[in-house]
Amino acid sequence: MIMLRALLFANGFGLLIGLLIIFMDKVINNYGEVAITINHDKEIRGDGGKTLLRILFESKYFIPSACGGKGTCGYCKLKVVEGGGTALPTEALMLTRSEIREQYRLACQLKVKENLQVEIPPEYLEIQEYEGMFSLSEQITEDIKRVRMQLITPETISYKPGQYVQVRIPTDDGFDFRAYSMSSNPDEQNEIELNIKLIPAGIGSSYLHAKQVGDPVEFSGPYGDFYLKTHSDREIICVAGGVGLAPLKSIVAYWVSHNLSRPIYLFYGARSLKDLYNHDYFTGIAETKPQFHYFPALSDPAPDWDGTTGFIHTVLDRELSTGIHGEAYLCGPPIMIDAVMAVLESKGIPKESILYDKF
Ligand SMILES: Cc1cc2nc3c(=O)[nH]c(=O)nc-3n(C[C@H](O)[C@H](O)[C@H](O)COP(=O)(O)OP(=O)(O)OC[C@H]3O[C@@H](n4cnc5c(N)ncnc54)[C@H](O)[C@@H]3O)c2cc1C
Ligand code: FES
Repeated sequence: MIMLRALLFANGFGLLIGLLIIFMDKVINNYGEVAITINHDKEIRGDGGKTLLRILFESKYFIPSACGGKGTCGYCKLKVVEGGGTALPTEALMLTRSEIREQYRLACQLKVKENLQVEIPPEYLEIQEYEGMFSLSEQITEDIKRVRMQLITPETISYKPGQYVQVRIPTDDGFDFRAYSMSSNPDEQNEIELNIKLIPAGIGSSYLHAKQVGDPVEFSGPYGDFYLKTHSDREIICVAGGVGLAPLKSIVAYWVSHNLSRPIYLFYGARSLKDLYNHDYFTGIAETKPQFHYFPALSDPAPDWDGTTGFIHTVLDRELSTGIHGEAYLCGPPIMIDAVMAVLESKGIPKESILYDKF
């Protein structure tokens, strides 16, 4: 009985403290309205206490935020030229010393409690919000779905092969965003295609895997500086692991439809044959275009696989000539990117000529 009373007392006390914290946050920490000046020009207003990322979003300024505001991707760096104090320890992990000195902050971590002046790079000002509808949803491997989204408002999007969009994902306490690379050819401006790998208990991938043709979708874009540099005559070396194939498929599709004469190499690593999607598409291109060199490889093949076996960086090491005048585009898990970077550098490709998206 005494135990029960003590338990009830402790629970009641805990509840009281919780309510007090909510009250203090709402009443005492009421920062009122704050003003944010953008690029010394425009001023927007928002509710103090929200993050800079959220206030900018509510005023239709779209900042890359691939981790959904958890402070782990570092994509939402912005220069805060006035106000906001100094970077928090949580931000320091994602900012270099010189960025901290230059007053960069992570917009997702900075709670706005006073007026601020921020600088937003001009390319971010081009990013728009789109409403669309799923026009295709098909399972292409055991855990990857191909979805196509038809644009409704606005009706078209202009993007570069390799870029990504951020899809709005409803959550229990509002909404979040997840980044997905476009695998479609940018020439098709009224529809985009994404390849979504299902992550067990993953909020965004589960949501998108459950969508049906005809369901609405909202996203913003295009984002990212991982895209094919078209003002170059160097050979194009694409290396993909798993669902990292998505942006590279967009690059290949663009290369085909624009009849580019630059040789292109696609090294594509998957676990087994059932994970090797778009294989027939790439094989078909290789059969008709001698400048397209396709190297699929399986790391864990069935005994009847008579193609290349092994991790993709070992295949790259074997097949790519040293001293090649190329630029590389890599997309896949971090461990693959690191191994591929080392091989490319050993072949004489400088770091500046290697672009990658890790996910
Ligand atoms: C620039 C960019 C482009 C991207 N493009 C694509 C794309 O084309 N296709 C695609 O499928 N994804 C892509 N991603 C990854 C995507 O944005 C999400 O991170 C991914 O779908 C997981 O989100 P989620 O909400 O399902 O999982 P969350 O709810 O965020 O995570 C659930 C749990 O799974 C863990 N987790 C998250 N990701 C992985 C993973 N890959 N493997 C194992 N565990 C994980 C988390 O740590 C967490 O514990 C891209 C990411 C970036 C940054
Ligand atoms: S959104 Fe990823 S670090 Fe801010």
